[in-house]
Amino acid sequence: MEKEIDILNTIIKRRRSIFPISYTSQEISVEVIRQILESANYAPTHKLTEPWRFVVFRNEGKWKLGEQLARLYKENTPTASFLQKKYDSITEKVRQSSCVIAINAQLNPDKLPAWEEIAALACAVQNMALTAEALKVGAYWSSPEMISDLGDFLQLNENEKCFGLFYMGYHNEEPRTAKRTPIENKVRWVEE
Ligand SMILES: Cc1cc2nc3c(=O)[nH]c(=O)nc-3n(C[C@H](O)[C@H](O)[C@H](O)COP(=O)(O)O)c2cc1C
Repeated sequence: MEKEIDILNTIIKRRRSIFPISYTSQEISVEVIRQILESANYAPTHKLTEPWRFVVFRNEGKWKLGEQLARLYKENTPTASFLQKKYDSITEKVRQSSCVIAINAQLNPDKLPAWEEIAALACAVQNMALTAEALKVGAYWSSPEMISDLGDFLQLNENEKCFGLFYMGYHNEEPRTAKRTPIENKVRWVEE
């Protein structure tokens, strides 16, 4: 049997951001989406606030999200810099995805600084990305400017904030090597 550490390392290193252009039309089942979401719930969380909140868009819901994102782009872009190609690509990306999940955090200003809640959310999203990889689902975290204007559409609570969109789809991409500089460049050891 393969050692746990080898399995873990393989999944961590093999995970890549996979973009909607590479997604096939194969649907991701609700069961698989639930499995991915379940892994989010095991992220570390200071004071057990469990700040991660998600809105899952599939089927008709996905179209509504696409329309809303495109509308926000049009409304917030001065006519001179508006690009029809960019506008069309917004709905196209959603169409190519089997599912899009809004990544939100419930902030608790009385309990914790916002950064701790956002850090816990990011841990939750990484759990999702690794679980997706293990299930052969491609995914990526997108953070377009429009997310700061999605509050009403997402029906966010007070102090709940959107930090991105998690696009997901099956794909046929060959594994890509990660572009990273050596970890040694980012670590200083203090031993005496
Ligand atoms: C918080 C966060 C926001 C991101 N936002 C975007 C984005 O808006 N557009 C994009 O193309 N990639 C985005 N990414 C994905 C990165 O581009 C990607 O992780 C990076 O290129 C490294 O590639 P890898 O994920 O395949 O290792 C985001 C990643 C994180 C963690």
